[in-house]
Amino acid sequence: MPAASPSAQSLSPGPVLPVHVAIIMDGNGRWAKQRGLPRIEGHRRGVETVRAITHAMRELGIRYLTLYAFSVENWNRPPDEVRALMGLLEYFLKRETRNLVKDRVRLLAIGRTQELPAVVRTQLEAAIQATAKFTDHTLVLALNYGARTEVVDAARAYAAAVAAGREKLNDGSWATFSRYLYTADIPDPDLIIRTSGETRVSNFLLLQGAYAEFIFSPVLWPDFTKTEFAAACAEFGRRERRYGLTSEQLKPVRAAAATK
Ligand code: IPE
Ligand code: IPE
Ligand code: MG
Repeated sequence: MPAASPSAQSLSPGPVLPVHVAIIMDGNGRWAKQRGLPRIEGHRRGVETVRAITHAMRELGIRYLTLYAFSVENWNRPPDEVRALMGLLEYFLKRETRNLVKDRVRLLAIGRTQELPAVVRTQLEAAIQATAKFTDHTLVLALNYGARTEVVDAARAYAAAVAAGREKLNDGSWATFSRYLYTADIPDPDLIIRTSGETRVSNFLLLQGAYAEFIFSPVLWPDFTKTEFAAACAEFGRRERRYGLTSEQLKPVRAAAATK
């Protein structure tokens, strides 16, 4: 990994870093409305925040960053807004691929990406291919993503594998089934942040987030900064994740981890 830059030191989140941070980027529309601008202006500004937070991921040493960019439910928005969002996505992928390569960030996508417009798919596949060899940092875009859709897709693929004799039905453990989720090769999110003051999950990583810590920020996504991102990571470091155990049970586990 490259040596920490001065700005990385100033963003230092503390000792316990989340490996995987996932963000529900919310509030673009309200940001625009507050300024008397069309909603798409909020989405445009939101793209700039995506760039800034992707940089912060590298500076802080976060290995995985998942961004909820478009849900399966978002197709039901006014057609003009959906068109504009798809245009922005295409523009982002076209413009950002070079920077991702320069910064050695791998791009992945989760969701029914096969249902995205062909021009977006082409850019997405090109960006994924161009960054496939990088291993230190991964940016995951949730595109046409819905957790319930993901479970249905995984159950179908799992059933097909059982029918074809590639899986045994009796071996239906979580470890086996989770390999059929879109996130098969991605660790579970440790921290899920939602901006804009809403305190709901909106069909995002329902299974993978089973033991994630949640932070709800009142800041609208276009105004969300590296500093707020670092503060959320620091807050994560102060949380005790008990996984069903008691605090006392965890003491020896923590002590052993500290001596490693
Ligand atoms: C998030 O901002 C972006 C997408 C869901 C695509 P919104 O567009 O949901 O913004 P609000 O919630 O209306 O303010
Ligand atoms: C969730 O935000 C989806 C994304 C951030 C892409 P929404 O704005 O669509 O969610 P709801 O409608 O407030 O639940
Ligand atoms: Mg919203």
